[in-house]
Amino acid sequence: MIYESVADCIGQTPLVYLRRLFPYHELEVIAKLEFLNPGGSIKDRPARFIVEQGLKNGMITPQTHLIESSSGNLGIALAMIARIYNLAFTCVVDPKISPMNLRILKQLGAGVEMVTTADDQGGYLKTRIQRVQELLHYIPHSQWINQYANQLNWQAHYSHTGEEISTQLDRAPDCLVVAVSTTGTILGLARRLRRDNPNLRVIAVDAVGSVIFGAPAGPREIPGIGASRVPELLCRDEIDEVVYVNDRESIQGCHDLVAREGIFAGGSSGSVVAAVQKLLSTFPPRYRVITIFPDRGDRYLDIVYNDEWVSSQLGSYELAFPSWKRKN
Ligand SMILES: Cc1ncc(COP(=O)(O)O)c(C=O)c1O
Repeated sequence: MIYESVADCIGQTPLVYLRRLFPYHELEVIAKLEFLNPGGSIKDRPARFIVEQGLKNGMITPQTHLIESSSGNLGIALAMIARIYNLAFTCVVDPKISPMNLRILKQLGAGVEMVTTADDQGGYLKTRIQRVQELLHYIPHSQWINQYANQLNWQAHYSHTGEEISTQLDRAPDCLVVAVSTTGTILGLARRLRRDNPNLRVIAVDAVGSVIFGAPAGPREIPGIGASRVPELLCRDEIDEVVYVNDRESIQGCHDLVAREGIFAGGSSGSVVAAVQKLLSTFPPRYRVITIFPDRGDRYLDIVYNDEWVSSQLGSYELAFPSWKRKN
């Protein structure tokens, strides 16, 4: 099989049992390794879906200039897709973007607009959106992807990620555990997998300090999970439970995942591992849990996998590092 472009290499990611982390009789915890997508994350899927649907229905033309506010995976995924379809793309970022992601965006040919003024909340969310509006005003044929409100975001996961899981599994899962930010992934998967099992238990994993489900805003340092706004996409009644995970638990989850499974994944994968650990006592016998590992560990080398950063964030707290991690 020879593909027409790297866009065709998106998807068909494997499912893996996490038997070393969760070695319990008749409990199956299965992860879909979305970090194996060519752009390095699950966001390749909505990026491709949104652009290809737009090209198909004429909303996007060769003249279109794509705009999005993202400091991470969606920006990188859109930059990749924009190259394939020869579209202009400008990514609005803020000073909290990791130096590595900034370099990746630029290497992929994205235009980068850095906002520098914090908003009245002390973050950059509002100033980023304001900059998007300005760009939409003065760049001809510009179009905002707007992942928090774009219905194609969850539909990408319904038609692709969810459809694949359904085909890959011999028996429908009992429970779905997904880290949330725009809620596109969890809603697309829940809607598709509930067709196979209407009793599917859907659990969102959110960061402490994220406001998605109405909790108070607070500091949080793990990118990818959580949000400082309530996504327009969110349909609260489709999510059965929310498990909150703090930065320390996410970091610990990442290190546990490397130690036990040899899986080097991003912060939100650690959050999911920590959430499953918290949920264990609620799982009945013979239970199948499906989860998603959205991105790789490489982009977190300066934070989650940097001992100095970890101790600066967590103070004197010692991670319960497993014995294999030699200190030398
Ligand atoms: C690493 C990572 N994990 C989880 C998510 C959450 O996915 P969603 O935005 O579909 O809720 C994102 C979204 O940006 C992400 O980048």
